[in-house]
Amino acid sequence: MAVYYRHWFTLPKTPTNWLALQTHLVAGVAVAALVVARVFWFFHSIQPDDPPGTRFEHLASHGMHRALYLFMIVMPISGYLGCGVAIEFMGLGDIPSFKDTGLFKSLGVAWETFEKPVDFVHKNSGAYLVWVLVLLHAGAALFHHYVKRDDVLRRMLP
Ligand code: HEM
Ligand code: HEM
Repeated sequence: MAVYYRHWFTLPKTPTNWLALQTHLVAGVAVAALVVARVFWFFHSIQPDDPPGTRFEHLASHGMHRALYLFMIVMPISGYLGCGVAIEFMGLGDIPSFKDTGLFKSLGVAWETFEKPVDFVHKNSGAYLVWVLVLLHAGAALFHHYVKRDDVLRRMLP
C-alpha cells in the first residue's frame, strides 16, 4: 500500500514519497520477522490432519501452501537484496542497504546489473503473482466452507 501511495499520490524525491518508501521497508522487515517466527512454529507444532479429500485435492493444497510460504520468504529477501537505500528502523537505527554492504561485488557485477533481475522478481511477484496465489487460496477456503461444508475455514478462527 505504501508503495502505491508513493507512486500514485506523491512526487518523487519529496518527504512524503520517502516516508511511504520507508514505511514499506519497515513493514517488510517486520513481515520477515513474523515469517521466521511462523516457520519456526510450523516445525515445532503438530499440524492438523488433512480433511477428507481426493489425492488431487491434497496435492493441490500442499502445493499451494508451499507456494504461499515461498512467496512470504522470497518477498522480503528479494526486497532487501534489491534495496539501494538504508532502512530507518523505527528510531532504533539504520539497517544498511544491501547496496551499501557491497556484497554484490563478489559476483563481479555492477549494482544496476545485480539489481535489475532482483527487482523484477520482487515487483512482479508483489504486484501480480500474489493475486493469483491469494485468490486461488481464498477460493479454496470458500470451496471448503460452501461446497464441501467442512470445518477448514472455521478452524482458522481462535
Ligand atoms: C512481505 C513483504 C513485501 C511485499 C509483499 C512487497 C511488495 C512490493 C511491491 C508490490 C512493490 C512495488 C512494485 C511496483 O513498483 O509495482 C515493492 C517495491 C519495493 N520493495 Fe517491497 N515488498 C515486501 C518487502 C520488502 C522489503 C523487506 C524490502 C527492503 C528491505 C522491500 C523493498 C522494496 C523496494 C526498494 C521497492 C521499490 C520501491 C519503488 O520503486 O518505489 N520490500 N514491494
Ligand atoms: C481471504 C484471505 C484468506 C483466507 C480466507 C484464508 C484461509 C485459510 C484457511 C481456511 C486455511 C487452512 C487452515 C487449516 O488447514 O486449518 C489457510 C491456510 C494457510 N494460509 Fe490462508 N487464508 C487467507 C489469506 C492468506 C494469505 C494472504 C496468505 C499468505 C500470503 C495465506 C497463507 C496460508 C498458508 C501458508 C496456509 C497453510 C498453513 C499451514 O498449514 O502451515 N493465507 N488459509
